[in-house]
Amino acid sequence: MQLSLPDTVEQRLNAEIRVSELRILLEHHNRLYYQSDAPEISDSEYDELFRELTALEEQHPELVTPDSPTQRVGGAPVARFRTVTHGMPMLSLENAFNEDEIRTKLDARIKKELGLADSAVISYVCEPKMDGLAVELVYEQGVLTVASTRGDGVTGEDVTQNIRTIRGLPLRLTGEAVPARMEIRGEVFLSLDAFKQINQARDENGEAPFVNPRNAAAGSLRQLDPRITARRPLSIYCYAPGLVEGASFSSQHEFLQTVSRWGIPVNPLTRQVDGVDGAVAYYHEMNGMRESLPYEIDGTVIKVDSFQLQQELGEKSRAPLWAIACKFPPRQAETLLEDILLSVGRTGVITPVAQLKPVEISGVTVSRATLHNWDEMAAKDIRIGDTVIVERAGDVIPAVVRVVPERRNGSERAVAPPLSCPECGSAVVRIAGEVAIRCIGISCPQQIRESIKHFASRGAMDIEGLGDKVVEELLSLGLVRTVADLYRLTKDDFMLFERMGDKLASNLLAAVDASKKCDLGRYIFALGIRHVGERTAKSLAQAYGSLANLEKATVEELTSVRDIGATVAQSIVIFFNNPHNQAVINQLREYGVDPAVVVKTIGGPLSGKNFVFTGTLTRFTRDFARKQVENQGGNVVASVSRKTDYLVAGEEAGSKLLKAGELGISVLGEDEFLNLLELH
Ligand code: IVH
Repeated sequence: MQLSLPDTVEQRLNAEIRVSELRILLEHHNRLYYQSDAPEISDSEYDELFRELTALEEQHPELVTPDSPTQRVGGAPVARFRTVTHGMPMLSLENAFNEDEIRTKLDARIKKELGLADSAVISYVCEPKMDGLAVELVYEQGVLTVASTRGDGVTGEDVTQNIRTIRGLPLRLTGEAVPARMEIRGEVFLSLDAFKQINQARDENGEAPFVNPRNAAAGSLRQLDPRITARRPLSIYCYAPGLVEGASFSSQHEFLQTVSRWGIPVNPLTRQVDGVDGAVAYYHEMNGMRESLPYEIDGTVIKVDSFQLQQELGEKSRAPLWAIACKFPPRQAETLLEDILLSVGRTGVITPVAQLKPVEISGVTVSRATLHNWDEMAAKDIRIGDTVIVERAGDVIPAVVRVVPERRNGSERAVAPPLSCPECGSAVVRIAGEVAIRCIGISCPQQIRESIKHFASRGAMDIEGLGDKVVEELLSLGLVRTVADLYRLTKDDFMLFERMGDKLASNLLAAVDASKKCDLGRYIFALGIRHVGERTAKSLAQAYGSLANLEKATVEELTSVRDIGATVAQSIVIFFNNPHNQAVINQLREYGVDPAVVVKTIGGPLSGKNFVFTGTLTRFTRDFARKQVENQGGNVVASVSRKTDYLVAGEEAGSKLLKAGELGISVLGEDEFLNLLELH
């Protein structure tokens, strides 16, 4: 057993420095991942650093700052909109999935935290949990000046112009005692009616429909052209204050009532209740009502009413202790399973898909649902003609949950797994240890179709204009049989299309040509090797530098690359050993598609540079600094000489600093050093 002793001053200082180091590293990797799209470390390495920081912050809560990566929630904003920093971070909520969890994770925990008796009655405010997007609005002197998305919780995107299109939102507050400045948070959403209208219009224009109201709201809010947003009737309900100057509220209940008087839309179903029983009853009541509401809710939110108690309780790991999101179980509907279709993916996996009698599940019409795989279908004994329960949970593809056996009349038909590919007639195999059944025909038209679509798609070669429809047409005209054929196409080929102008044909040709210069990671991803997603492809590109090197790699070597396990490694080796794949790759090479990673100058950007450290460092340790310098090709030496390129000076630097001054050597502070390493 370990005894926990109080921290010594030294331990605390060490923790402080390590926390600072970890934040520098995590922020650096965040930037690489979200903004430059060029990660240097794997997800698991990132997670490890993150866990280390979380653990240290838990041990030393006084070291937690709002800008710590642990305080971030979700992803960073994209570059297209201006960014806005929230006055206070926008937190997320912890989830409860049933009545029990509401009692234990919220009420009992709060009482324990506040030292209250079990019998104490806490006053709560219960609200529907709107399934939309969180935004922050700023009203200055009563006027709406800025609106931003939540983004990563600390900074979001400036969507003021789009928010202004929401009719129900006042551009100027009305009534008495309007505060000098108020930040207020709420959820932007689309009503089910609006969602249907939008999808109908999209359908008429030949555009793909939005999957659900939430996605449609997100797409509308992040429109660069506010005129388009204005045609999408977004709504908003506000539910929480940010920083407020010139007004104060003592409770959530009072806050909502007051802002509502100023014209801010507040959900009328919000209710103040006494004690957790009231909150639980509200949860059940809303769950019962959800299907009849004109918008989607995915649960309720329960908040401690008193702002003073909220403050006492505070927050822990990015979520307040005074509130909880109570999620509803996924929505289900009963319908007839009319047929079982076989869908062949680009890797040849044959998936059973249920064709359903169209059924509406909370405003969304579902006519297809996945049956996952043949094992699962057999285990659930799903047959054609069955009445089935279909589930739509969040953003995921609808799934068949189970059959309703009482509805059987004996005419239902079980479907056996296919013995041959429904598209090309080739044999199918089932690889040991896998549930998938796979077509092994190398010229299976469906596989080819899907693999060409994948090759040209956005995350892969990103050939602009070469969408699914163009691929279909190329295939039906017999112009392409493999991805390599794309690079043989001429303008005349495109002119064979039913509807094709001179300009469009030239553009397509230019886009195909431009893709030859694509990045190696994308190319590896585009090849469609099983188990190799975008991230793995990037790691492979970094590790191997060229396809020629990767082609030669052995399973053993591959498994030493970060992110790559035995299954992935095997799949890569199998892919490159396949003569058909080899032929296609060679052809691609002949056509000039052979991207490579530009090899950095030996040792990196600080190659040959000598660093000396002196004084007390407060933001990182010398060990950390040494590693970073060496990673970039530099050296760390002990004493200052003419050969020294940089002296990094901490606090109370002494003789080395003087000497550097005499020799005219560049002296860097800790921040400048981080800037030099681009770790700022
Ligand atoms: S309160 C710290 N109230 O749910 C307070 N959030 O899972 C955080 N949401 O990011 C927010 N309806 O986007 C709150 N009535 C409601 C809500 C609500 C929907 C969303 C919001 C938040 C997420 C947290």
